[in-house]
Amino acid sequence: QILILDFGSQYTQLIARRVRELNVYCEIHPYNHLPEITSAVKGIILSGSPSSVRDADAPTVDLNALRHQAPVLGLCYGAQLMAQSSGGEVKPSSIREYGRVKLGTVNDQNPLLHGIDQHSQVWMSHADTIMTVPDNFNVIASTDTVRVAAFQIEGEQTYGIQFHPEVTHSLQGKVLLRNFVVDICGCSQSWTADSFVESTVAQLKEKLGDDKVVMGLSGGVDSSVAATLIHRAIGANLYCIFVDNGVLRKDEFEDVLESYKELGLNVKGVDSKQQFYGALTGLTDPEAKRKAIGKTFIDVFDQEAHLIEDVSWLGQGTIYPDVIESVSVKGPSATIKSHHNVGGLPDFMKLKVVEPLNTLFKDEVRAVGKTLGLPDTILGRHPFPGPGLAIRILGDITAEKVQILQEVDALFINGLKREGLYDKVWQAGAILLPIQSVGVMGDERTYERVVALRAVTSVDGMTADWAHLPYEFLADISNEIINKVKGVNRVVYDISSKPPATIEWE
Ligand code: XMP
Repeated sequence: QILILDFGSQYTQLIARRVRELNVYCEIHPYNHLPEITSAVKGIILSGSPSSVRDADAPTVDLNALRHQAPVLGLCYGAQLMAQSSGGEVKPSSIREYGRVKLGTVNDQNPLLHGIDQHSQVWMSHADTIMTVPDNFNVIASTDTVRVAAFQIEGEQTYGIQFHPEVTHSLQGKVLLRNFVVDICGCSQSWTADSFVESTVAQLKEKLGDDKVVMGLSGGVDSSVAATLIHRAIGANLYCIFVDNGVLRKDEFEDVLESYKELGLNVKGVDSKQQFYGALTGLTDPEAKRKAIGKTFIDVFDQEAHLIEDVSWLGQGTIYPDVIESVSVKGPSATIKSHHNVGGLPDFMKLKVVEPLNTLFKDEVRAVGKTLGLPDTILGRHPFPGPGLAIRILGDITAEKVQILQEVDALFINGLKREGLYDKVWQAGAILLPIQSVGVMGDERTYERVVALRAVTSVDGMTADWAHLPYEFLADISNEIINKVKGVNRVVYDISSKPPATIEWE
């Protein structure tokens, strides 16, 4: 595997993704929580950083020790750290070096730069520049303005580069990373979804033995794939619970339960609609609604988990970005949950946790799901928030409002599917607004509800653009909704991007 040491760069996850795309397993660790470097670590990549090596409290590691344990590639800050700690000079750049730049000279005889063109386009993003390097650093690439764009330390498999090969604007970045990971470090490109399933199922068998696992399913990709994987390992000893919280999409509870049964999962559907509606009564504040739903879910799940005898594990669909977030350089204390209240936790939260997907990115989870034979209806599903329609009904929640919104949402989503638009948007749904508007139907004046439709394109939900759905489609859907859903006389389309808006309205 490749070890990526994170110094806090916005691009660290991208480095990991690029390495994984080469079918090589890698892990990100914060620079200040260095794991033991075993023989399994074939190479080390140092990330960039928002810090400057010139700062007194600049993040650092013992490079001399690392350099003798495995080949090392320093990217941007990582390269500057190498240069400076060996006696080179790093200074603020006189010109701003940000964006696409063409390399000038490239020593393509160097193993790191095999196959890289002389004027290859790379992505620069740095405020500091390496001015001088020690005599035993060989400069292997330059640009017009950056003399030390890449170097190798003589006699060592230690490299530094000033640009960012992990960013797609570095057009041959993947070639460079392949050179490092495969040729220089000698990693075999054998890490695939198939091999992941095989080794994970074997590990789960070993770890869980005859123990019982309880797991809550949501219908989403992560929990479904995690459950299927655990099921492969321990079969009926996995007890799945799928709760109807009353704010799911139309027919979602029945449909999802059916697909889980078809997959052979031992799943219990629990209808707790009334309990959730009870907890939501009178609440209008979005955070209060979220809390009420979260707490009710915990109560229901705890009660159900108690019905299973001798259960010792809690299965979870946690994926790698969640893990990285909770141990990030930027402040573990701010993101990790406080555990000082263990005594007051529900019993299921005291179970040992098994998280088979906690090393995978989202697209890898999908690939594993495909290998496991999960249907596209589960794998291709849009994200859906845990608090469900409760945060898409602005104001207080009633069963009647839920039912209206479910109808509108179903017409919209089915329309997107029918027109081949569903897979083109990242997430879509409808919002019930807390206002009424005047309309006319036949000869009569109406005074009814307004719904908003929202569809966005996005990569990860962190930023999003409103989806430019065809006008004809919007016109048809609007007609269909107003004609078919009693109590709605106006449909609007949300054309706000995130930021400054968010995807959900609450
Ligand atoms: P926003 O509204 O913050 O949403 O732009 C980004 C993504 O997060 C989802 N979301 C939630 N998911 N519980 C969840 O499980 C929540 O409370 C929640 N709030 C927002 C949202 O659907 C979108 O995919």
